[in-house]
Amino acid sequence: MHDRVSGRPSAHAALAFYDDQHPPAGDFLADVLDGFSRSPKQLTPVYFYDAAGSAIFDEITELPEYYVTRTELAILDRIGPELSGLAGPGAVVIEPGSGSSVKIRKLLDALAEPAAYVGLDISGEHLEAACQEIAADYPKLQVGAICADFTQGLDLSHLPLESGRRIIFFPGSTIGNFEPAAARDLLDGFRRAMRPGDAVLIGADRVKDPATLVAAYDDAQGVTARFNLNLVERINRELGGTIEADELSHRAVWNPEFNRIEMHLHADADQRFEVAGREFELREGESIHTENSHKFTPNSFTSLAESVGFDVLHSWSDAADLFSLHWLEPTSKA
Ligand SMILES: C[S@@+](CC[C@H](N)C(=O)[O-])C[C@H]1O[C@@H](n2cnc3c(N)ncnc32)[C@H](O)[C@@H]1O
Repeated sequence: MHDRVSGRPSAHAALAFYDDQHPPAGDFLADVLDGFSRSPKQLTPVYFYDAAGSAIFDEITELPEYYVTRTELAILDRIGPELSGLAGPGAVVIEPGSGSSVKIRKLLDALAEPAAYVGLDISGEHLEAACQEIAADYPKLQVGAICADFTQGLDLSHLPLESGRRIIFFPGSTIGNFEPAAARDLLDGFRRAMRPGDAVLIGADRVKDPATLVAAYDDAQGVTARFNLNLVERINRELGGTIEADELSHRAVWNPEFNRIEMHLHADADQRFEVAGREFELREGESIHTENSHKFTPNSFTSLAESVGFDVLHSWSDAADLFSLHWLEPTSKA
Protein backbone atom coordinates (compact mmCIF):
# COMPACT_ATOMS: atom_id res chain seq x y z
CA MET A 1 0.00 0.00 0.00
CA HIS A 2 1.31 3.49 -0.91
CA ASP A 3 2.72 5.36 2.08
CA ARG A 4 0.25 8.22 1.59
CA VAL A 5 -2.61 5.79 2.06
CA SER A 6 -3.14 5.49 5.76
CA GLY A 7 -4.58 2.51 7.53
CA ARG A 8 -5.07 4.35 10.82
CA PRO A 9 -6.78 1.46 12.59
CA SER A 10 -9.37 2.94 14.91
CA ALA A 11 -10.42 6.16 13.13
CA HIS A 12 -10.71 4.50 9.72
CA ALA A 13 -11.59 0.97 10.76
CA ALA A 14 -14.53 0.76 8.39
CA LEU A 15 -12.66 2.11 5.35
CA ALA A 16 -10.51 0.04 3.03
CA PHE A 17 -8.25 3.10 2.64
CA TYR A 18 -8.09 6.79 3.46
CA ASP A 19 -5.84 8.61 1.02
CA ASP A 20 -4.97 12.08 2.24
CA GLN A 21 -3.57 14.03 -0.71
CA HIS A 22 -3.38 17.13 1.49
CA PRO A 23 -5.22 19.60 -0.75
CA PRO A 24 -3.53 22.93 0.04
CA ALA A 25 -5.41 24.64 2.87
CA GLY A 26 -3.23 27.75 3.02
CA ASP A 27 -4.61 28.99 -0.29
CA PHE A 28 -7.81 30.20 1.38
CA LEU A 29 -6.09 33.42 2.52
CA ALA A 30 -4.29 33.98 -0.79
CA ASP A 31 -7.50 33.41 -2.77
CA VAL A 32 -9.54 35.74 -0.56
CA LEU A 33 -6.95 38.54 -0.74
CA ASP A 34 -6.73 38.08 -4.50
CA GLY A 35 -10.53 38.05 -4.91
CA PHE A 36 -11.02 41.19 -2.81
CA SER A 37 -8.31 42.99 -4.83
CA ARG A 38 -10.28 42.48 -8.06
CA SER A 39 -12.93 44.67 -9.54
CA PRO A 40 -15.65 43.50 -9.20
CA LYS A 41 -14.73 41.66 -6.00
CA GLN A 42 -15.13 37.91 -6.09
CA LEU A 43 -14.71 34.82 -3.92
CA THR A 44 -14.14 31.19 -4.91
CA PRO A 45 -17.06 28.84 -4.19
CA VAL A 46 -14.83 25.95 -3.10
CA TYR A 47 -14.60 27.68 0.31
CA PHE A 48 -18.35 27.44 0.92
CA TYR A 49 -17.98 23.91 2.20
CA ASP A 50 -16.58 24.10 5.72
CA ALA A 51 -18.54 22.04 8.29
CA ALA A 52 -21.18 24.81 8.68
CA GLY A 53 -21.44 25.38 4.91
CA SER A 54 -21.79 21.66 4.18
CA ALA A 55 -24.59 21.40 6.76
CA ILE A 56 -26.41 24.42 5.26
CA PHE A 57 -26.00 22.94 1.79
CA ASP A 58 -27.73 19.78 3.03
CA GLU A 59 -30.63 22.03 4.19
CA ILE A 60 -30.75 23.68 0.74
CA THR A 61 -31.25 20.30 -0.92
CA GLU A 62 -34.51 19.90 1.07
CA LEU A 63 -36.01 23.30 0.14
CA PRO A 64 -39.23 23.39 -1.90
CA GLU A 65 -37.69 25.85 -4.38
CA TYR A 66 -34.52 23.78 -4.86
CA TYR A 67 -35.80 21.35 -7.49
CA VAL A 68 -32.26 20.16 -8.33
CA THR A 69 -31.77 17.42 -5.74
CA ARG A 70 -35.22 15.87 -5.76
CA THR A 71 -35.41 15.95 -9.57
CA GLU A 72 -32.03 14.27 -9.93
CA LEU A 73 -32.94 11.66 -7.30
CA ALA A 74 -36.21 10.89 -9.11
CA ILE A 75 -34.37 10.46 -12.43
CA LEU A 76 -31.86 8.14 -10.72
CA ASP A 77 -34.74 6.10 -9.30
CA ARG A 78 -36.36 5.79 -12.70
CA ILE A 79 -33.24 4.86 -14.67
CA GLY A 80 -31.75 2.50 -12.08
CA PRO A 81 -32.34 -0.68 -14.12
CA GLU A 82 -30.86 0.94 -17.23
CA LEU A 83 -27.78 2.07 -15.28
CA SER A 84 -27.36 -1.41 -13.89
CA GLY A 85 -27.34 -2.80 -17.43
CA LEU A 86 -24.85 -0.18 -18.63
CA ALA A 87 -22.44 -0.58 -15.71
CA GLY A 88 -22.65 -4.36 -15.45
CA PRO A 89 -21.71 -6.27 -12.29
CA GLY A 90 -18.66 -5.48 -10.16
CA ALA A 91 -18.46 -1.73 -10.91
CA VAL A 92 -16.10 0.55 -9.01
CA VAL A 93 -17.88 3.86 -8.35
CA ILE A 94 -15.82 7.00 -7.73
CA GLU A 95 -17.55 10.19 -6.60
CA PRO A 96 -15.57 13.44 -6.82
CA GLY A 97 -17.08 16.07 -4.47
CA SER A 98 -18.98 13.38 -2.60
CA GLY A 99 -20.22 15.64 0.23
CA SER A 100 -22.71 13.76 2.37
CA SER A 101 -22.83 10.88 -0.13
CA VAL A 102 -26.64 10.81 -0.35
CA LYS A 103 -27.30 10.34 -4.07
CA ILE A 104 -24.72 7.63 -4.31
CA ARG A 105 -27.02 5.30 -2.38
CA LYS A 106 -29.52 5.38 -5.25
CA LEU A 107 -26.77 4.39 -7.65
CA LEU A 108 -25.28 1.70 -5.43
CA ASP A 109 -28.76 0.26 -4.81
CA ALA A 110 -29.45 0.16 -8.55
CA LEU A 111 -26.18 -1.48 -9.63
CA ALA A 112 -25.65 -5.23 -9.74
CA GLU A 113 -23.17 -6.17 -7.01
CA PRO A 114 -20.96 -3.08 -7.17
CA ALA A 115 -17.43 -3.91 -6.03
CA ALA A 116 -16.25 -0.61 -4.58
CA TYR A 117 -17.14 2.97 -3.73
CA VAL A 118 -14.59 5.75 -3.39
CA GLY A 119 -15.69 9.15 -2.05
CA LEU A 120 -13.40 12.08 -2.87
CA ASP A 121 -13.79 15.48 -1.26
CA ILE A 122 -11.71 18.48 -0.30
CA SER A 123 -13.42 18.61 3.10
CA GLY A 124 -11.78 15.71 4.96
CA GLU A 125 -13.88 15.54 8.09
CA HIS A 126 -17.22 15.44 6.32
CA LEU A 127 -15.84 12.96 3.78
CA GLU A 128 -14.63 10.46 6.30
CA ALA A 129 -17.87 10.39 8.27
CA ALA A 130 -19.97 10.04 5.10
CA CYS A 131 -17.81 7.20 3.72
CA GLN A 132 -17.87 5.38 7.02
CA GLU A 133 -21.66 5.45 6.92
CA ILE A 134 -21.60 3.96 3.42
CA ALA A 135 -19.17 1.27 4.60
CA ALA A 136 -21.45 0.40 7.53
CA ASP A 137 -24.56 0.23 5.32
CA TYR A 138 -22.93 -1.70 2.44
CA PRO A 139 -20.79 -4.33 4.18
CA LYS A 140 -19.93 -6.20 0.95
CA LEU A 141 -18.60 -3.08 -0.73
CA GLN A 142 -14.95 -2.00 -0.66
CA VAL A 143 -15.22 1.63 0.57
CA GLY A 144 -12.36 4.10 0.44
CA ALA A 145 -11.96 7.85 0.78
CA ILE A 146 -9.67 10.35 -0.88
CA CYS A 147 -9.16 13.81 0.56
CA ALA A 148 -8.13 15.79 -2.52
CA ASP A 149 -8.95 18.64 -4.87
CA PHE A 150 -10.73 17.18 -7.88
CA THR A 151 -9.62 20.10 -10.08
CA GLN A 152 -6.10 18.64 -9.88
CA GLY A 153 -7.07 15.46 -11.74
CA LEU A 154 -7.96 12.11 -10.22
CA ASP A 155 -4.87 10.29 -8.98
CA LEU A 156 -6.04 6.71 -8.46
CA SER A 157 -3.08 4.72 -9.73
CA HIS A 158 -1.57 3.93 -6.30
CA LEU A 159 -4.82 2.86 -4.62
CA PRO A 160 -5.61 -0.75 -3.73
CA LEU A 161 -8.81 -0.55 -5.79
CA GLU A 162 -10.97 -3.43 -6.96
CA SER A 163 -10.44 -4.06 -10.66
CA GLY A 164 -13.98 -3.58 -12.03
CA ARG A 165 -15.27 -1.06 -14.53
CA ARG A 166 -14.89 2.46 -13.12
CA ILE A 167 -17.88 4.76 -13.07
CA ILE A 168 -17.13 8.36 -12.13
CA PHE A 169 -20.32 9.74 -10.54
CA PHE A 170 -20.52 13.54 -10.63
CA PRO A 171 -24.08 14.54 -9.71
CA GLY A 172 -25.64 17.79 -8.52
CA SER A 173 -24.61 19.84 -11.58
CA THR A 174 -21.36 20.70 -9.79
CA ILE A 175 -19.92 20.94 -13.34
CA GLY A 176 -21.98 24.13 -13.69
CA ASN A 177 -19.95 25.86 -10.98
CA PHE A 178 -17.01 26.07 -13.34
CA GLU A 179 -16.36 28.59 -16.13
CA PRO A 180 -16.44 26.83 -19.51
CA ALA A 181 -12.64 26.49 -19.80
CA ALA A 182 -12.32 25.16 -16.24
CA ALA A 183 -15.24 22.75 -16.83
CA ARG A 184 -13.34 21.38 -19.83
CA ASP A 185 -10.15 20.99 -17.75
CA LEU A 186 -12.11 19.20 -15.04
CA LEU A 187 -13.70 16.71 -17.43
CA ASP A 188 -10.36 16.24 -19.14
CA GLY A 189 -8.84 15.39 -15.72
CA PHE A 190 -11.55 12.75 -15.23
CA ARG A 191 -10.94 11.31 -18.70
CA ARG A 192 -7.22 10.98 -18.06
CA ALA A 193 -7.93 8.78 -15.00
CA MET A 194 -10.15 6.46 -17.07
CA ARG A 195 -9.37 3.23 -18.84
CA PRO A 196 -11.17 1.80 -21.88
CA GLY A 197 -14.70 0.81 -20.86
CA ASP A 198 -14.91 3.25 -17.92
CA ALA A 199 -17.71 5.83 -17.85
CA VAL A 200 -18.85 9.11 -16.28
CA LEU A 201 -22.41 9.57 -14.97
CA ILE A 202 -22.86 13.31 -14.61
CA GLY A 203 -25.73 15.61 -13.62
CA ALA A 204 -26.30 18.88 -15.49
CA ASP A 205 -28.95 21.44 -14.63
CA ARG A 206 -30.98 22.76 -17.56
CA VAL A 207 -31.59 26.26 -18.87
CA LYS A 208 -35.17 27.10 -17.94
CA ASP A 209 -37.37 30.07 -17.05
CA PRO A 210 -35.41 32.60 -14.95
CA ALA A 211 -38.07 32.84 -12.21
CA THR A 212 -37.70 29.13 -11.37
CA LEU A 213 -33.91 29.44 -11.41
CA VAL A 214 -33.76 32.57 -9.26
CA ALA A 215 -36.15 31.08 -6.68
CA ALA A 216 -33.95 27.97 -6.42
CA TYR A 217 -31.01 30.19 -5.41
CA ASP A 218 -32.94 32.74 -3.34
CA ASP A 219 -35.44 30.75 -1.28
CA ALA A 220 -38.19 32.24 0.87
CA GLN A 221 -36.71 30.87 4.11
CA GLY A 222 -33.34 32.51 3.47
CA VAL A 223 -31.32 29.27 3.70
CA THR A 224 -29.31 30.04 0.55
CA ALA A 225 -28.69 33.53 1.94
CA ARG A 226 -27.20 31.92 5.07
CA PHE A 227 -25.08 29.64 2.87
CA ASN A 228 -23.71 32.64 0.95
CA LEU A 229 -23.09 34.73 4.10
CA ASN A 230 -21.37 31.79 5.82
CA LEU A 231 -18.46 32.40 3.45
CA VAL A 232 -17.98 35.88 4.91
CA GLU A 233 -18.36 34.56 8.45
CA ARG A 234 -15.75 31.94 7.64
CA ILE A 235 -13.36 34.67 6.46
CA ASN A 236 -13.99 36.58 9.70
CA ARG A 237 -13.47 33.44 11.81
CA GLU A 238 -10.49 31.90 10.08
CA LEU A 239 -8.65 34.78 8.46
CA GLY A 240 -9.06 37.54 11.01
CA GLY A 241 -11.68 39.30 8.87
CA THR A 242 -13.71 42.26 10.13
CA ILE A 243 -16.45 42.24 7.46
CA GLU A 244 -19.87 43.48 8.67
CA ALA A 245 -21.99 40.56 7.46
CA ASP A 246 -25.17 42.36 8.63
CA GLU A 247 -24.56 45.00 5.99
CA LEU A 248 -24.45 42.53 3.14
CA SER A 249 -27.45 40.93 1.45
CA HIS A 250 -27.69 37.83 -0.66
CA ARG A 251 -28.67 38.23 -4.32
CA ALA A 252 -29.27 35.59 -7.00
CA VAL A 253 -29.26 36.91 -10.57
CA TRP A 254 -29.86 35.16 -13.91
CA ASN A 255 -27.21 36.18 -16.44
CA PRO A 256 -28.62 35.28 -19.88
CA GLU A 257 -25.37 36.09 -21.69
CA PHE A 258 -23.55 33.20 -20.00
CA ASN A 259 -26.59 31.03 -19.17
CA ARG A 260 -25.80 31.14 -15.48
CA ILE A 261 -27.20 32.01 -12.09
CA GLU A 262 -24.83 34.26 -10.21
CA MET A 263 -24.77 34.58 -6.45
CA HIS A 264 -23.64 37.91 -5.05
CA LEU A 265 -23.28 39.58 -1.68
CA HIS A 266 -24.60 43.09 -2.15
CA ALA A 267 -23.26 45.91 0.06
CA ASP A 268 -26.17 47.74 1.70
CA ALA A 269 -23.82 50.43 3.02
CA ASP A 270 -20.22 51.58 2.63
CA GLN A 271 -17.80 49.66 4.81
CA ARG A 272 -14.09 49.33 5.37
CA PHE A 273 -12.78 45.99 6.59
CA GLU A 274 -9.60 44.03 7.08
CA VAL A 275 -8.58 40.50 6.22
CA ALA A 276 -5.34 39.31 7.83
CA GLY A 277 -4.30 42.93 8.32
CA ARG A 278 -5.01 44.01 4.70
CA GLU A 279 -7.56 46.81 4.31
CA PHE A 280 -10.41 46.74 1.82
CA GLU A 281 -13.37 48.94 1.06
CA LEU A 282 -16.89 48.13 -0.14
CA ARG A 283 -19.07 50.93 -1.51
CA GLU A 284 -22.83 50.85 -1.07
CA GLY A 285 -24.32 49.03 -4.08
CA GLU A 286 -21.06 47.20 -4.88
CA SER A 287 -21.24 43.44 -4.81
CA ILE A 288 -18.99 40.46 -4.11
CA HIS A 289 -19.52 37.75 -6.73
CA THR A 290 -19.44 34.43 -4.89
CA GLU A 291 -20.70 31.70 -7.24
CA ASN A 292 -21.72 30.88 -10.80
CA SER A 293 -24.06 28.00 -11.64
CA HIS A 294 -24.01 27.51 -15.38
CA LYS A 295 -27.05 25.85 -16.89
CA PHE A 296 -27.01 23.66 -19.98
CA THR A 297 -29.09 22.84 -23.02
CA PRO A 298 -28.72 19.34 -24.47
CA ASN A 299 -26.55 20.86 -27.22
CA SER A 300 -24.33 22.95 -24.97
CA PHE A 301 -23.67 19.97 -22.70
CA THR A 302 -22.84 17.70 -25.63
CA SER A 303 -20.44 20.32 -27.05
CA LEU A 304 -18.67 20.56 -23.69
CA ALA A 305 -18.30 16.78 -23.37
CA GLU A 306 -17.20 16.28 -26.96
CA SER A 307 -14.64 19.08 -26.71
CA VAL A 308 -12.61 16.96 -24.26
CA GLY A 309 -12.98 13.63 -26.01
CA PHE A 310 -16.18 12.16 -24.57
CA ASP A 311 -19.17 10.72 -26.38
CA VAL A 312 -22.54 11.37 -24.71
CA LEU A 313 -23.97 7.88 -25.09
CA HIS A 314 -27.16 8.32 -23.03
CA SER A 315 -29.08 11.28 -21.58
CA TRP A 316 -32.09 11.22 -19.27
CA SER A 317 -34.37 14.06 -18.09
CA ASP A 318 -37.50 14.50 -15.99
CA ALA A 319 -40.84 15.18 -17.72
CA ALA A 320 -40.49 18.96 -17.25
CA ASP A 321 -36.87 19.01 -18.54
CA LEU A 322 -35.62 20.64 -15.35
CA PHE A 323 -32.50 18.49 -15.02
CA SER A 324 -30.51 15.90 -16.99
CA LEU A 325 -28.14 13.04 -16.28
CA HIS A 326 -25.66 11.97 -18.96
CA TRP A 327 -23.58 8.84 -19.51
CA LEU A 328 -20.21 9.65 -21.08
CA GLU A 329 -17.53 7.36 -22.38
CA PRO A 330 -14.16 8.34 -23.85
CA THR A 331 -14.61 8.58 -27.58
CA SER A 332 -12.87 5.85 -29.49
CA LYS A 333 -11.05 8.59 -31.46
CA ALA A 334 -9.58 10.21 -28.29
C1 LIG B 1 -22.66 20.52 -3.57
S1 LIG B 1 -21.76 19.26 -2.75
C2 LIG B 1 -22.25 17.89 -3.73
C3 LIG B 1 -22.46 16.65 -2.91
C4 LIG B 1 -22.98 15.44 -3.67
N1 LIG B 1 -22.06 14.99 -4.71
C5 LIG B 1 -24.33 15.73 -4.25
O1 LIG B 1 -24.47 16.02 -5.43
O2 LIG B 1 -25.27 15.70 -3.48
C6 LIG B 1 -20.22 19.65 -3.35
C7 LIG B 1 -19.11 18.90 -2.64
O3 LIG B 1 -17.96 19.04 -3.43
C8 LIG B 1 -16.85 19.33 -2.60
N2 LIG B 1 -15.90 20.08 -3.40
C9 LIG B 1 -16.08 21.31 -3.94
N3 LIG B 1 -15.00 21.65 -4.66
C10 LIG B 1 -14.13 20.61 -4.56
C11 LIG B 1 -12.84 20.36 -5.09
N4 LIG B 1 -12.23 21.26 -5.87
N5 LIG B 1 -12.25 19.17 -4.83
C12 LIG B 1 -12.87 18.24 -4.04
N6 LIG B 1 -14.10 18.43 -3.50
C13 LIG B 1 -14.71 19.59 -3.76
C14 LIG B 1 -17.41 20.09 -1.44
O4 LIG B 1 -16.60 19.95 -0.28
C15 LIG B 1 -18.79 19.46 -1.27
O5 LIG B 1 -18.79 18.41 -0.34
